[in-house]
Amino acid sequence: MSLLFTLPLSLPLVRRFCCRVKQPLPGQLNPALTWMLVGIAAVVIVVKLITLLWLDALLPKPGLITPPATKIASPYLLPHPKPPSRAPAASTTTERYRWQALPKIAPEPLDNRNTVAKINLGRQLFFDKRLSIDGTVACGSCHQLTGSAYGADRQTVSTGIDEQRGSRNAPTVLNAAFQRRLFWDGRAESLEQQALGPLTNPLEMGMPSLEAVVNRVRDTPEYAAQFRTAFPQQPQISSDNIAKAIASYERTLITPNTAYDRFVGGEESALTPQQLRGMALFESIGCVLCHSGPNFSSASLFDNDNGLRLFPANPDTEYQSKYRLIEDRGAVADDEDAKVGVWRVPSLRNVSKTAPYFHNGSVDTLDEAVRVMASTQLKRSISNDPASQQSIHWSKAQLRFANLNNVAISDSQVRDIVAFLESLTGPLPEQNPLGFSAQSR
Ligand code: HEC
Ligand code: HEC
Repeated sequence: MSLLFTLPLSLPLVRRFCCRVKQPLPGQLNPALTWMLVGIAAVVIVVKLITLLWLDALLPKPGLITPPATKIASPYLLPHPKPPSRAPAASTTTERYRWQALPKIAPEPLDNRNTVAKINLGRQLFFDKRLSIDGTVACGSCHQLTGSAYGADRQTVSTGIDEQRGSRNAPTVLNAAFQRRLFWDGRAESLEQQALGPLTNPLEMGMPSLEAVVNRVRDTPEYAAQFRTAFPQQPQISSDNIAKAIASYERTLITPNTAYDRFVGGEESALTPQQLRGMALFESIGCVLCHSGPNFSSASLFDNDNGLRLFPANPDTEYQSKYRLIEDRGAVADDEDAKVGVWRVPSLRNVSKTAPYFHNGSVDTLDEAVRVMASTQLKRSISNDPASQQSIHWSKAQLRFANLNNVAISDSQVRDIVAFLESLTGPLPEQNPLGFSAQSR
């Protein structure tokens, strides 16, 4: 690459050299010969550059295996979290947003490639209640993958061992594989890093230490052989391998085939006219400023944004006290000066199935969640009165409108957005890693 930079620098030198050869002095090289030499040198440089660029494109990038034609930022090249961005001003999008479908396979880290044996082992660990202190709770108790819970548990906040209730709502594990930040406050940066947390969380699975977890797994005879096939290079039962197996399994828990994805893929009739109106509003009023990209989250692997936002960004709404939105302040919980919370932007895939909403599960319906968002994040009021739908400010001095913004959205527009969000629900992934094997290996 250094060639790229030296080339422009060396141009003046070449030019000076060329000027000199225009007036040959006795004893100097024949000008024709010199031009030929310069020509050959230029051809060599160009060929070298092309080879370098070509090699660069061919070499595997560190971090992730990327599904074809999808741009994904490596979680291992993350910049240090930046301070949270402020809420965007309403309607600032002038350039059109580009909508994208979800890849059919989740990206996987180079040091934890998916294999059928590993996925099978991970699935077993995910549903194994023996990994909790009293044998009553598994990952799958709070992240249910059959029936209507769609990877969450349909409760306001989750219930762990001894019927203890935590303070946060369980987010779905579906499509977590595409997220660069996990947990409501974004404190984990990979599925591997996240997986060990609940095991020793006293309110969740309550194991005293990771060592105790490893011993539990060792006490279960059938696991030894499974770890050997899943990790042929380093077959020991370790917390590292437990995390890797669970994460591999979670990378199969994705829902790419939604009506939205089919629409973006070219099937125009996949969305109803109402859903299409909702999709356009989702862009025009600015939801896409945070819920962006194929996973509808700026905290996903497709985005370089830090994925954290103030919530509620506009503190002057009725919702703040109604839904106790600032009791927990998420990523800035330790900052006593913080007046509002900072939260990871969640994915909105399957959101119509994962009520109740927000970090504390305080909002029961999607319709209300959309109102809360429009109002707290985008300063929109909800009104059916056409008079309040636009804010008009005439500038006498400049003889033009100083401000002509849409401020309110109507009830029917809220319903349109909800209808659009319903198009993000996909069929549940088949609990069948053999199917996975036929599809992608
Ligand atoms: C007692 C219920 C409970 C159990 C058991 C549990 N979880 Fe969770 N899970 C939660 C809650 C609540 C959160 C959100 C916590 C937070 O954000 O602080 C969460 C968050 C997550 C997330 C992050 C999702 C996202 O979008 O950020 C993943 C992934 C996850 N859990 C996987 C697991 C795995 C793997 C296990 C088993 C090792 C497990 N969970 C066990 C309740 C549970
Ligand atoms: C400024 C950034 C921002 C904008 C703009 C924004 N959101 Fe959000 N959204 C968030 C954050 C952050 C959360 C998580 C809040 C929390 O942690 O409780 C969230 C949560 C949600 C949830 C709840 C998800 C769940 O699983 O509980 C829904 C639904 C939602 N947003 C929809 C929308 C819609 C629709 C719009 C446009 C009207 C929108 N959002 C605009 C940042 C934003």
